[in-house]
Amino acid sequence: MAPPPSQRDRTVSDIMAHPVVTADPSETVAAASGRMQERGVGSVVVVDGDRPTGILTERDLVRFGASGADSTIAKVSEWMTADPDHLGPDEDPAKALARLLEKGYRHFPVEDEGKLVGIVSARDLMRISQIRPITPAGLDAPKGLEGVVVGETEIGDVRGMEGFYHYRQYNAVELAEKRTLEDVWHLVYRGYLPTRTEREAFKDEIRPLRVIPPEVKALLPSVAILGRHGSLLNGFRSAYSLLAGALGFQPWLDVPIDTLRAEGMLTCAVIPSLLTAIYRLRTGDDPVDPDPELDYAANYLYMLSGKRPPPEHARAIEQYLISTVDHGFNSSSFTARVIASTGADLGSAVVGAIGALSGPLHGGAPSRALDMLDAIGVPEKADEWIRNAVTHGQRLMGFGHRIYKTDDPRSVMLRGVAERLGGPMLDFAKHVEERCVAILAELKPGRNLYTNVEYYAGVVMDRVGVPREMFTPTFVSSRSIGWTAHIIEQAADNRLIRPNARYAGPPPPEPVPAAG
Ligand code: ACO
Repeated sequence: MAPPPSQRDRTVSDIMAHPVVTADPSETVAAASGRMQERGVGSVVVVDGDRPTGILTERDLVRFGASGADSTIAKVSEWMTADPDHLGPDEDPAKALARLLEKGYRHFPVEDEGKLVGIVSARDLMRISQIRPITPAGLDAPKGLEGVVVGETEIGDVRGMEGFYHYRQYNAVELAEKRTLEDVWHLVYRGYLPTRTEREAFKDEIRPLRVIPPEVKALLPSVAILGRHGSLLNGFRSAYSLLAGALGFQPWLDVPIDTLRAEGMLTCAVIPSLLTAIYRLRTGDDPVDPDPELDYAANYLYMLSGKRPPPEHARAIEQYLISTVDHGFNSSSFTARVIASTGADLGSAVVGAIGALSGPLHGGAPSRALDMLDAIGVPEKADEWIRNAVTHGQRLMGFGHRIYKTDDPRSVMLRGVAERLGGPMLDFAKHVEERCVAILAELKPGRNLYTNVEYYAGVVMDRVGVPREMFTPTFVSSRSIGWTAHIIEQAADNRLIRPNARYAGPPPPEPVPAAG
């Protein structure tokens, strides 16, 4: 015995209506339409014996009505659609629905060996297609979108196998060696490196934007205190969100692109002031206003500590900041682009990006890398600690990267900066790095796990006096330039980013039980 339709693939014969309401070609249109009304159907199949020769649908009757002809005289054969497309009883309902939608029909007669055996409507087919989807979910992308190109950018590129990345064609490491943060910001935003005059003009433009608007500044103590139990980034995220709201950032779809650019400039300029203000308020100090005489990097350290930093410290942090401005479609920049693609305001996209960056698998690692050094304590314990961690499935913070399968050029550069700065932690950090890479190669062969930007970022920041809880926020500060550039680029050539998911649960539709 054949299994019931619910347990096998259904066919057109399972869902078709029969017997079919039919008409004779010589009948009048009035008689046929009267029968359609009486039987509550949207069409009649015109038959010669039991062979279908045409179909008269509501659409034909509309056409007829517009003609002004007399329905008591006009014949069905004159107004029907002759030789209608039809289905076989064994056909797949999903494919039938796809055909029906493609051709714009509402009904299909069903024929078996030239005889009319039933009729199916779009509604019947839709109902069955809820059980067996007519549209495939789409192309399957690998988990984590690894190796998938999801868009274009002119901001920069990361070449994972070559250990190279650039901002608008310029090797980012070389930029960090030869240029200032303001120059690189100008490059990313304006598309080229500034001349001396352009640099000064750009700094003049930035200077007033660093100042936190007074209405927001007045609220910061409450934000800092309320958020003090969570990470500093939580408080900062809220403070930035407040600022974007207070300054009236609008969905970019409603404002000129120049407004979006201005909001981007302001965001990048004010973020260091907001970050350091939240930090100081959490530790019981008053915020320090930006010093108009200091450039970005020196001013950042100044607002953090209240003291003008030594030039070598300002330069070291500047090199770190330059090296982390942008990095392809990393998780936080992509998050910003996804949010921007909906037409939302720049503030929303930046808040989302902050959240994405905060995770330990992305920007939340540098303080944990130093925590690891603390936990290891002395060089002699390194091997045992590292082996134990990796064999217990822990991730060594500051190692491994989705794109780099060789040395991360940022970590190589920052190791150089750390060597220049010196300090008691340096030799120990280098020893632990060497042991981590060796033990990962042994215990995770073929995964190509090397030091990433976060490892020496922690070492460098620690050496120039940035407190551990400010490591990831400092990353936010520089990456905000990349995020906002991505948001502006997305807005300039937007398409909503909205992929599909493959549903993997039990099959729908499950009847909804009556409420108890
Ligand atoms: N320590 C130990 N094992 C690791 C590490 C690590 N740091 N990184 C990757 N692996 C292992 C994984 O356990 C996995 O092993 P398996 O094949 O036995 O399951 C394999 O290498 C591949 O790891 P995935 O997580 O699939 O690789 P992915 O490309 O998704 O990971 C990531 C990249 C998240 C950065 C990862 O290397 C990691 O967790 N590193 C530690 C956290 C960190 O340093 N984050 C900062 C990244 S840099 C930045 O975002 C700015």
